[in-house]
Amino acid sequence: MDTILFKNNPPDRAVTFDEYLADGGFQTLRKALAGMSPNDVQQAVIDSGLRGRGGAGFPTGRKWSFVPRDLPGPRYLICNSDEMEPGTYKDRVLLEHNPHLLVEGMALTSFALGVERAFIFIRRGYEQAALNLRSAIDFAHKAGFLGSDICGSGFSLELDVHLSAGRYICGEETALMNALEGIRANPRVKPPFPAVKGLWGQPTVVNNVETLANIPAIVAHGPAWFKALAATPEGSGTKLFCVSGHVRNPICLELPIGIPLGEIIDTHCGGMRPGSSFKACIPGGASTPYFTKEHWAVAMDFDPVAKAGSRLGTGGVVVFDQTTCMVAATLNLVRFFARESCGWCTPCREGLPFVQHILERIEAGHGEASDIDILREHVHMLNYAFCALAPGAMGPVEGMLRLFEDEVREHITGGKCPLGN
Ligand SMILES: Cc1cc2nc3c(=O)[nH]c(=O)nc-3n(C[C@H](O)[C@H](O)[C@H](O)COP(=O)(O)O)c2cc1C
Repeated sequence: MDTILFKNNPPDRAVTFDEYLADGGFQTLRKALAGMSPNDVQQAVIDSGLRGRGGAGFPTGRKWSFVPRDLPGPRYLICNSDEMEPGTYKDRVLLEHNPHLLVEGMALTSFALGVERAFIFIRRGYEQAALNLRSAIDFAHKAGFLGSDICGSGFSLELDVHLSAGRYICGEETALMNALEGIRANPRVKPPFPAVKGLWGQPTVVNNVETLANIPAIVAHGPAWFKALAATPEGSGTKLFCVSGHVRNPICLELPIGIPLGEIIDTHCGGMRPGSSFKACIPGGASTPYFTKEHWAVAMDFDPVAKAGSRLGTGGVVVFDQTTCMVAATLNLVRFFARESCGWCTPCREGLPFVQHILERIEAGHGEASDIDILREHVHMLNYAFCALAPGAMGPVEGMLRLFEDEVREHITGGKCPLGN
């Protein structure tokens, strides 16, 4: 199977700059600057069908095409490496193992968009990844792949690494831009969308680490090659799946996008731990509704996962066995989101702590019969929050009510966890 992101990576350390060069690194940038126009690069990405790997799956080339070509002043590219979604650690693995790939991907993207200054916004705790990135940027600078007049093409680019002050909301692209500008990280009203009015009021593209790391391979090998990497004819490329929980071998893997859920768990993670049987999983990070055994054959790609009632999200798969209390698991997730609400809008600021309170009383055996309806109402009402944090937080609550309503009811009628937890 062809891979892009983890190709030739040593398992226990970062690829060195020399190893990256020896493996053809920066040749795609060199060739693109010598023989392609910015539009050619953008068209290759549009044709490749690449969809953003940060959670929403928005088509990458289409997002780039929203950047106005004729506005005066600078335009910016931001790489979103905030990665605070529980259960998600793919960007960290990628950055720690091959930061050069991201640097080349950002250089190609900046060339396509006419960007001369780009930023990498990185999670506070990712010190190793930030160190590796800064070193990769230094090497690229010294070799003439960053800085002014790159490879004699007239194209210039500076890359800055910005360590976040550390809140989940900073991953939301408009809150991220506020954080970069040094103001409080609340989300902004959309529209205007960042592609038109973003960082310091200028056109800005925000893309995820994994999204940008795919660009060199798309430009080097072409859209048809990239599309053919998927497990299904509708899909495009590979996907990083970072698996955790009750599997034998929790691991971050690059696999064809669209691979069935069961194959990820059984074939690539060694199945469940001894004594464990599969009860449920979060398929795409903490803000996605659960899957159960009935979803074992679902193709792990954006549309099939959505059709099956969840979201591919980040590809962070958290696996639960038969001993997991779904009320306790959901409460644990909601606690995180309630704590991380930025407080900007009322539904999220007030609603999430209230949902947490209801789940706490059910879990403690003091739930009331009406609690299930109250939770359902909140799944609906929190869709009207200002940004996607609160609707995402209600993903696991919605999944719990749809797939495990009997278990929730048993907590309420029995006054305790039916699993004895
Ligand atoms: C609360 C919240 C947190 C988010 N955190 C991240 C994150 O850590 N990394 C990320 O790439 N996208 C995150 N996103 C999505 C971004 O807003 C944005 O859609 C994404 O960075 C776009 O990149 P892509 O098109 O390459 O997927 C978050 C969204 C929300 C609402």
